[in-house]
Amino acid sequence: MTAEKPKVWATFDPIPSVVNYLKERSDFSFNESGELATREMIRAHLPDLQGLFVTLRDQIDEPLLGEATNLKVIATLSVGYDGIDITAATQHGIWVTNTPDVLTDATADLAWGLLLAVARRIPEGDRLVREGKYSGWRHNLMLGTDISGKTLGIWGAGRIAQAVARRAAGFNMQIIYSNRHCKGEFEQATCALCVDFPELLQRSDFLVLAVPLTPETHGRIGWPEFNLMKRSAILINIARGAIIREEEMVEALRRGRIAGAGLDVYVDTTGIHKKLGDLDQVVLTPHVGSATVETRENMALLAATNIVDALQGRRPQNAVNEITNARAQTEPTRAPQNAEVL
Ligand code: DGY
Repeated sequence: MTAEKPKVWATFDPIPSVVNYLKERSDFSFNESGELATREMIRAHLPDLQGLFVTLRDQIDEPLLGEATNLKVIATLSVGYDGIDITAATQHGIWVTNTPDVLTDATADLAWGLLLAVARRIPEGDRLVREGKYSGWRHNLMLGTDISGKTLGIWGAGRIAQAVARRAAGFNMQIIYSNRHCKGEFEQATCALCVDFPELLQRSDFLVLAVPLTPETHGRIGWPEFNLMKRSAILINIARGAIIREEEMVEALRRGRIAGAGLDVYVDTTGIHKKLGDLDQVVLTPHVGSATVETRENMALLAATNIVDALQGRRPQNAVNEITNARAQTEPTRAPQNAEVL
């Protein structure tokens, strides 16, 4: 008699190579509706599952986890895991894994894409040309702001923060950053200077947010922080929308308290604050930090490997929690590698 394969379900349709990988190693199925998985859909699957593969759109909270009596691992196709109640998962002995490293470069690239786009007004220029309003070079047409020689401020010191800083090398910028702890290796690699949060706000010409959403960072940037910033400052958010008090950011932009913003993430994870779309000095992208073919493929493969490791009794390499009562028999544990930083 062959042992029954563990049941794994994904809330979305992973790429075919990952579907095959998981089908070979588990009783794998996924949400084939083409729509986001609803809470009810997740709840209906949970009691049978040993592995759950989610995205950052899925909210996995304590009431749901309470029904997941066989679940051993939740893998999210993202580096951020703010949609999962980690404390509850840990209490239930369920591993939670994320996908760090493989998305670092793509996400840092997008931060720079937004920075360049806002500073040099690229989308605005594109609109002007497409609308047939371009009638030749003019000395005062679409003047932006220099990037080279300016101060790049980064909130955070994790992988993505450091990758953003490394990309500044070609722009001859001074780099400052703020983080709970200063990081020597970051400073050595990029010549970044560790400063406190108010100084970061005051000195940055470009301020990139690269911290995870936690109770500590939630709503941390609002009117008092905008008041500390330079009027010429440009804010870039590739982390999570809820780090910023969005209504106050809209006001700061409207009143010229800061000069512009490049945003990939929003408080409302399903749309944008309606007033943001009216502001020319803002460049908006639809949460695509990691959205390249190669990166998403690597993320999916990494997540699938984490699921299989947990189901086969190994500690998943990207576990964000440390559990002592794992439902899966595991090898001795080591300290989590990625619990604090993006
Ligand atoms: C993630 O994976 O959490 C990021 O939002 C990528 O953009």
